[in-house]
Amino acid sequence: KRKIIIDTDPGIDDAIAIALALFSEEIEVKLISTVAGNVGINYVTENALKLVSFFKKEVAVARGATGPLVRQSKDASSIHGKTGLEGYAFEEWNERLLVDQHAVNAIYQAIIASEEKTTLLAIGPLTNIALLLKLYPQIENQIEEIIIMGGSIDRGNYNVYAEFNIGYDPEAAKIVFDSAIKKTMVGLNIGLKALIKPEASEEIKTMNKVGDMFYSLFKKYRGGSFEEGLTMFDSTAVAYLLRPDLFTVVDTYVDIELTGQHTTGATLVDFNGHISNEANTTVCIDIDEAGFNKWFLENIRHMDI
Ligand code: BDR
Ligand code: CA
Repeated sequence: KRKIIIDTDPGIDDAIAIALALFSEEIEVKLISTVAGNVGINYVTENALKLVSFFKKEVAVARGATGPLVRQSKDASSIHGKTGLEGYAFEEWNERLLVDQHAVNAIYQAIIASEEKTTLLAIGPLTNIALLLKLYPQIENQIEEIIIMGGSIDRGNYNVYAEFNIGYDPEAAKIVFDSAIKKTMVGLNIGLKALIKPEASEEIKTMNKVGDMFYSLFKKYRGGSFEEGLTMFDSTAVAYLLRPDLFTVVDTYVDIELTGQHTTGATLVDFNGHISNEANTTVCIDIDEAGFNKWFLENIRHMDI
């Protein structure tokens, strides 16, 4: 089984992505590390604990970076609600799952404890991963791949050209994209295409307890609408991990804009070789939308708790 670490800022779409990963039989989630992003670190960490407990899984949670490396950024509480996971009343959660170690060290330990290389699934700002690469540069050799939900091949949702996870901590993203590790970018362009249709949302509601919880969260989630389809950004990164056949990709050079007047945090996806650097990222440019919907629903249907 592929060994996975999920670095996340739950977050409503993170919640669903975490479930898709935890219930998959093809992978083994070794750790969930949290990072400030959608909301602050206390909320996202508590949310991760709530989710893992709700799913009745025994996966450790480690609390990570409290904010971007360099700048002050705005969170996404206007979208995900004050706590990041508004809309469902979770019962007691298992505090025992919280490890007594900073996420960056917990990620390091989890990677070196494994004989096989680990894949990082990054569905929040890249702060923890940048810190990991700076603190433990030799760890690069033990990382199989970083699958990043972030960036965009066209417009952004943080500013005109920056997607939230990159725009929130562009310096961290720069460190990660500049590393020699194999990287895949599953950007906003993919998430905006992979909508969950209104009929499907109704179906999810009645599938099981997990579906009912998701439905309650969706109701608060303004990343799309029940009428026009819901965006599942972070789940598309899990889809790439488990079903790469659903994606069309191009290997190219990606840089992060750090000094733009309006564009800081933009991913410069150099399709035409203007920067003339070697390809450093596998960039997802298209997704089989129907295939994604089918995969997504099938998986939720089997989330028995
Ligand atoms: C990304 O930003 C966050 O709000 C979501 O959780 C997702 O990771 C989409 O731009
Ligand atoms: Ca996220």
